Amino acid sequence: AAAGLGVAAAQRSGLLGAAGSSDREDSGTATEPARTEAVGARSEAFYGPRQAGIDTMPQSFATFLAVDQAEGTERETIRRMMRVLTQDAAALTGGDAPINDQEPELALNPSRLTVTFGFGARILNLVAPERAPEWLRPLPAFGIDQLEDRWNDGDLLIQVCCEDTVSLAHAQRVLLKNLRSFGTVRWVQNGFRSVPGAEAADPPSMRNLFGQVDGTVDTQPDTPEHEQIVWGVGEQAFQPWIQDGTSLVLRRIHMNLDTWDEADRPAREDSVGRTLDTGAPLTGTAERDEPDFEAVGPLGFKIIPDYSHIRRSRHPDDRVRIHRRPYNYDVPVMDASGFASAGSSSGGVSDSGLLFASYQADVDQQFVPIQQRLDDLDMLNVWTVPVGSAVFAIPPGCQKGGFVGDVLFN
Ligand code: HEM
Repeated sequence: AAAGLGVAAAQRSGLLGAAGSSDREDSGTATEPARTEAVGARSEAFYGPRQAGIDTMPQSFATFLAVDQAEGTERETIRRMMRVLTQDAAALTGGDAPINDQEPELALNPSRLTVTFGFGARILNLVAPERAPEWLRPLPAFGIDQLEDRWNDGDLLIQVCCEDTVSLAHAQRVLLKNLRSFGTVRWVQNGFRSVPGAEAADPPSMRNLFGQVDGTVDTQPDTPEHEQIVWGVGEQAFQPWIQDGTSLVLRRIHMNLDTWDEADRPAREDSVGRTLDTGAPLTGTAERDEPDFEAVGPLGFKIIPDYSHIRRSRHPDDRVRIHRRPYNYDVPVMDASGFASAGSSSGGVSDSGLLFASYQADVDQQFVPIQQRLDDLDMLNVWTVPVGSAVFAIPPGCQKGGFVGDVLFN
């Protein structure tokens, strides 16, 4: 079985004993598998009470994919599927090739890979209907929405994040192979941020494709605020649907780069309430300065305008917060001749935007009121359009030997 593998790779995948490795070492040649110390070798823990990929410092690349289960899927099928998916995700996360991996070398550099699973209403209603939270349904329709069904909803979410696109593509393929008999892929959405080291700050707030510093004000993992907002822990918290579970709202938001390019710099900065160079609030000088929402300029107008995105997205109730973990997307738009064409949602050269991933204990109490405020008023709406929307319940993690979602089967 090890014939097609390098010795080191075969040993990693458990096909050879220790002898394989000492033979190679004796020969004096450099035969360690192609694990790079810098990024490739770094791995995130898979097992634990909570799934990874939420509190994890964002990796540079993400794929969100949704699968529709086949008609007639049974509870037992889901149990089997989650068991297989969990085994493979755990192996890949640790830099090990799953048993049926035909390209095991591609599994050797986990590059901080995380795999996070989420359930749509159909799965949860099949597995544990008494657990299904009320918010596990499409969001209410917002006036700004121009949703395209090809980016909406889905039964099973797989979120794969990684510092390396090759490892990510491989993980995605291995996981999807398991799902062939379970259902069909509904959508795949690829996103990216700057790679480590590309930005000066460490860790950097990412920049989105409008050039804005994005992610300044957000909950920080391991703080009481984050525990409350994401995991529903604490007296002030909204109840999570299950302990150590949370929710994902994924909004695909088109950003019109062509009309944004036409706006002048003051208009762009006013639209958010922050400067473009450092991301500082218009009332401050550094990114992390606290905005002064009361400050007025010489003419008596508020310096951070009423319509600015940071004013609108900050709900007056500080329990109404979310944890954002967005990724940019950028898809070339070509017509039949191979030239960029201005399709309905395109900005001309490319179709760009944000995969706006938001995690919170309770979608209805946290995400919806913020989105409602932005629907009512937000200058950014001039250049942005939500084109996709999906809501998932994120089950707790699992221990070795278990599988993600196993608590729901008890
Ligand atoms: C803040 C961009 C959509 C919620 C910000 C900031 C930028 C930004 C540049 C300021 C820096 C920061 O604190 O991160 C965008 C863009 C969007 C978008 C380009 C769409 C393409 C949304 C949506 C929501 C949202 C859909 C929620 C439903 C927030 C929140 C903050 C924020 C909560 C922090 C506000 C505060 O200072 O308290 N966004 N955003 N954003 N955004 Fe957005």
